[in-house]
Amino acid sequence: MTVSIKSQDEIEKMRVAGRLAGEVLDFIEPFVKAGITTEELDRLCHDYMVNVQKTIPAPLNYAPPGHRPYPKSICTSINHQICHGVPGEKVLKNGDILNIDITVIKDGYHGDTSRMFCVGEVAPHARRLCEITHECLWLGINQVKPGNRLGDIGSAIQKHAEKNGYSVVREYCGHGIGVNFHEDPQVLHYGSPGTGLTLMPGMTFTIEPMVNAGKPGIRHLGDGWTVVTKDHSLSAQWEHTILVTDTGYEVLTLSAGSPPGFQP
Ligand code: MF3
Ligand code: CO
Ligand code: CO
Repeated sequence: MTVSIKSQDEIEKMRVAGRLAGEVLDFIEPFVKAGITTEELDRLCHDYMVNVQKTIPAPLNYAPPGHRPYPKSICTSINHQICHGVPGEKVLKNGDILNIDITVIKDGYHGDTSRMFCVGEVAPHARRLCEITHECLWLGINQVKPGNRLGDIGSAIQKHAEKNGYSVVREYCGHGIGVNFHEDPQVLHYGSPGTGLTLMPGMTFTIEPMVNAGKPGIRHLGDGWTVVTKDHSLSAQWEHTILVTDTGYEVLTLSAGSPPGFQP
């Protein structure tokens, strides 16, 4: 495993890419309403990235080993879909919860972030899943400082999810990010404190917990990408790209519309 330490020059580029990724979510928020299709959301984001931001949508044609090229520019995962939902003709309806995951490339560097959106009136249990998962993300972020270890992040996330009666998806994790969309290290959203890689200033990685209302098991849909809960329970995910600083962390994907984080 080789974990890259970013230079000041690279960090500045990661700041720009990160903020732009967050701004795509700000842009799309008012369009997330009952009646729109996920394909239309994809088109709107694609055009905003390419024509307004002059960024490259990293998912489009992304083809890691063992996968067919991803056909769209964003990921849209609805209700029991965990992640990598492929935009299509599906129409959003009142009560849906939706994750939109955006990754842009600017000046050669990636910014990767996702949020949950509630469509119209959402049942309290579904809203709560989204809120607790956001808390999981921020409890993980608060563990980021030099000398702490990846297991401290995973443990904080897992404890909070399970304390609330939820489960953490094991098959997908956060990841190092920079010139590459996905690089070392793997950032697990479960684990034990005091274990795993020790964090150092200049590391950049995502934290992106996927939390299921029911059991942790997953299934893949026939499109080769969409991941769903095996038990059909609801699932939520939030993601930020993080820099390890000399004293703690910097969240690179914050933008004007990001919901506030917190310190415990
Ligand atoms: N953005 C996702 C992540 O957080 C990866 C999506 S890969 C795609 O790592 F091909 F499905 F877009
Ligand atoms: Co990611
Ligand atoms: Co992402």
